[in-house]
Amino acid sequence: GATLAHSHGDFLHCLSFHLANSSTISKVIYMRNNPSYSSVLNASIQNTRFSTPATPKPLAIITPLKTSHIQSTIYCSKKHGLQLRIRSGGHDFEGLSYVSEVPFVILDLLNFRAVKVDTKNKVAWVQSGATLGELYYGIAAKTKTLAFPAGICPTVGIGGHFSGGGYGILVRKYGLAADHIIDAQLIDANGRILDRKSMGEDLFWAIRGGGGNTFGIVLAWKIKLVPVPVVVTVFTVNKNLEQNVTKILHRWQYIAHKLPDDLYVDVGITKVSSSQAGKKTVQAAFMALFLGGVDELIPLVQERFPELGLAKENCSEMSWAESVLYLGRAPRTSLDMLLDKNVIPRTIFKAKSDYVKEPIPESGIEGFLSMFLEKEADFASMLMVPFGGKMEEIPENELPYPHRAGNLFQASYIVGWRKEENAESGKYISWIRRFYSYMASYVSKSPREAYFNYRDLDIGSNNISGYTSYQQASIWGFKYFKNNFKRLVQVKTMVDPMNFFRNEQSIPPLSSP
Ligand code: FDA
Repeated sequence: GATLAHSHGDFLHCLSFHLANSSTISKVIYMRNNPSYSSVLNASIQNTRFSTPATPKPLAIITPLKTSHIQSTIYCSKKHGLQLRIRSGGHDFEGLSYVSEVPFVILDLLNFRAVKVDTKNKVAWVQSGATLGELYYGIAAKTKTLAFPAGICPTVGIGGHFSGGGYGILVRKYGLAADHIIDAQLIDANGRILDRKSMGEDLFWAIRGGGGNTFGIVLAWKIKLVPVPVVVTVFTVNKNLEQNVTKILHRWQYIAHKLPDDLYVDVGITKVSSSQAGKKTVQAAFMALFLGGVDELIPLVQERFPELGLAKENCSEMSWAESVLYLGRAPRTSLDMLLDKNVIPRTIFKAKSDYVKEPIPESGIEGFLSMFLEKEADFASMLMVPFGGKMEEIPENELPYPHRAGNLFQASYIVGWRKEENAESGKYISWIRRFYSYMASYVSKSPREAYFNYRDLDIGSNNISGYTSYQQASIWGFKYFKNNFKRLVQVKTMVDPMNFFRNEQSIPPLSSP
């Protein structure tokens, strides 16, 4: 109570003093009594599980207009013992960029969203507060023959996505978003502005996949763009339980990771109504991107994956930027949809991820498909993303993201529910936990690997106030990073020994501050 109000007041006093210019203050600091506080807070909350009245709220939201505002925010929150949460696109699965159990402020990069594309040198500078859609739009506005290998959801933020790895429909051809970062601008815990050269190769390695809110605030990234043809082809083929889906999924596991790198075929599994009245079935949508024309694609799929029964009617030719909207299941009325903050509906969800190294036998597939028929799975889905290709060539310690060679595919599971059902959310969360334990025998083991950007606090967490030991953080750390966790801890110990930047799954420094 009293101490909290005290530190709150001191923090704001400190920040106002440093910002000096009062006309700026009203555009930069949103306190709880500001009429815009809620709309600024909710603007980028993607998982509405974390926008209820019970969700802990920040003492203030800071929306810096320039780097000095960020330096002042670091200085004042450090001085007055407030935790700082950094937010770019707000897509964190567990809401860690805008929720904390201890008194905190949010630094929201919504004003840092410039995208500068240089087609001549095939590079771009992109600020962390921009979305993937804004980056793709920026590229498409200049050329149809360059692209960037990041995620498919246009509303995802650059800041969190790049700092956790970032994969999308070009993952087999080019690897991860982080694999294409060549420079960055970072503000560290001491308020220093660093670039690749001044931060050094250890820290530059760590920020490309080792997680956000751990090493500093990344303001901007310099990326290498990748070539794509003017025309690409996409397709969707749906198969349900009555159409041999088990056998086709089983075959997919032997084929998808070995296809030519130009062809990416993922699978999305959901419950749907079947043609028989009132009956539900489970459907797998096989969705693909091919970096070439339809006439080349059809014979290729007929030869390599005849079980799919691909026909020309399933295919469409379009530009690469349009294919992002297609595979992201977003409306394709125009490329402007890439800029639309609500192009993907906001939902309430809990998600988990796995990596699969051996094909799952048909009996195992039948088992998980049947779990989708359960009542709790009405808003559940599973996504299977094929690896192989470029992912097979990159060494495990090249970047913090370790899930490379030997993975057939990444699997992720998501369960959702309606707002009215929040009181019963426990049954949905226990469904996904049961699903995850069912999958245990078919996926990676010791550690059971997980994707950092699909954050899951079930796999382990730091102490949110006070010291977290290396041993405790290793529980979740090795799942996300395997042996790279050790180097991440060394870098953290070097650059932020006092553990200023922290959250429930940030890398801890080696000794207690
Ligand atoms: P958010 O702002 O919530 O930040 C996430 C984390 O990074 C937080 O810990 C935050 O503090 C930290 N952070 C953010 N900005 C930072 C900065 N500038 N400097 C330092 N730390 C910072 N992933 C994927 O690989 N491929 C995909 O196709 C998709 N698709 C997808 C769809 C949907 C609907 C969702 C909700 C999520 C995905 N993701 C994904 C996962 C996504 O990559 C992941 O949630 C990212 O961390 C989101 O980044 P944001 O900036 O939006 O999140």
